[in-house]
Amino acid sequence: MSGGLVTAAYIVAAILFICSLAGLSKHETSKQGNLFGISGMTIALLATMMGPDSSKIGWVLVAMVIGGAIGIRLAKKVEMTEMPELVAVLHSFVGLAAVLVGYNSYIDHVPGTDVVMENIHLTEVFIGVFIGAVTFAGSLVAWGKLCGKISSRPLALPHRHKLNLLALVVSLCLLIIFVRTESVGAQVFALLLMTVIALAFGWHLVASIGGADMPVVVSMLNSYSGWAAAAAGFMLGNDLLIVTGALVGSSGAILSYIMCKAMNRSFVSVIAGGFGTDSSSGSEEAEQGEHREIDVQGTAEMLRNSSSVIITPGYGMAVAQAQYPVAEITEKLRAKGIKVRFGIHPVAGRLPGHMNVLLAEARVPYDIVLEMDEINDDFSETDTVLVIGANDTVNPAAQEDPRSPIAGMPVLEVWKAQNVVVFKRSMNTGYAGVQNPLFFRENTQMLFGDAKATVDAILKAL
Ligand code: TAP
Repeated sequence: MSGGLVTAAYIVAAILFICSLAGLSKHETSKQGNLFGISGMTIALLATMMGPDSSKIGWVLVAMVIGGAIGIRLAKKVEMTEMPELVAVLHSFVGLAAVLVGYNSYIDHVPGTDVVMENIHLTEVFIGVFIGAVTFAGSLVAWGKLCGKISSRPLALPHRHKLNLLALVVSLCLLIIFVRTESVGAQVFALLLMTVIALAFGWHLVASIGGADMPVVVSMLNSYSGWAAAAAGFMLGNDLLIVTGALVGSSGAILSYIMCKAMNRSFVSVIAGGFGTDSSSGSEEAEQGEHREIDVQGTAEMLRNSSSVIITPGYGMAVAQAQYPVAEITEKLRAKGIKVRFGIHPVAGRLPGHMNVLLAEARVPYDIVLEMDEINDDFSETDTVLVIGANDTVNPAAQEDPRSPIAGMPVLEVWKAQNVVVFKRSMNTGYAGVQNPLFFRENTQMLFGDAKATVDAILKAL
């Protein structure tokens, strides 16, 4: 395949990637968006493999078959609730790839006579390895936090912001040494030392962020992985990789910005790995008084006597796969003339739109599924709220306790309703590790047990 044809194929692929992003921005066109992305990537792979710069296609095919087989197996096995972990691992691969490409580009490079071009090449290598290492380590910590292998509580090292700044300043000095020195030994030392610092920096950035703020971190790492891919594109002289990386990097940055706004956080402090860490009321797990319990019959009775009901689902509904009986209860109550609606918090569950996907799967009508801003004013006129497996997203401490790690995060104001029933298995905290004062309110009753089992039992009782 000639160079011209490869460029043409890259342009088509880049356009398909842009169409893919546009398609993925709406629920109704998301399948189309995926198809555009798959087509663009297929064209990009074929053009790269058949282009004039490629060699040893046999090895590339072997690597693709092995990688593809592992990818298909893992993607088939992964549960919906494990998707964010999978995404975090995939981000770490992009970061690792950028580090390896950077080292390879440094080792493989035949120095030319043009000093400016040489300096540009060295700077590309250094920045590519730095971004890649930060993305790799940060994504691994995000994976650990999402799957519970690392505590979701923020790591609060003393002088943590100064440590971050120090890492950046030292890396900048190492960049100057790396580009300026003529000694290969000094160059290798600067590159290796910076890699270690960047790994520690990435680790620390994500470790110091609290559980409730993880959605923003995941989209931020998505953005970093895009920039890491763009940096690899510069090192490899591959235009499509630069364009694709920039698309992922900028769309991830926009998503992070939107998430920050939705969660009332500062964009700059997320990038600096700082928010959610300066406040801690210490005894977050301590219970805050007496809680009251209710049984299945009592809940069914309460529902029968209500004229309006709001259901606020959370991560526990996804774990229990309770969306199907929840949909059946909704149908039953609506058939009795009771007004039933759903209140969806933007970060309920573990994925953007997680609850919407589950409810759509169970065929809950779209028009009764409302966003937090659309429904928050209606709780005070609601008879009964069923909190099904949600915790952080309905925690009044976010509004009432300025020292809470989730302070300032907008939440569903369920406690304003006449009665609240919380479906969960124990008095355990939610993902952010913060106790929930809602459970101890006078109008709240706890219904303990697996959400699917209890919702099934209520369905029978109704
Ligand atoms: P969480 O705060 O995670 O709480 C879920 C609750 O569900 C837990 O308290 C748990 O209590 C209960 N639960 C678990 N399994 C259950 C089961 N089988 N049956 C009944 N209850 C069960 O949920 P949330 O309100 O949806 O908040 C989401 C949290 O995740 C937020 O902090 C958010 O920032 C974070 N996060 C979100 C995302 C995105 S993009 N959505 C990504 C990463 C992190 P028991 O153990 O007592 O049952």
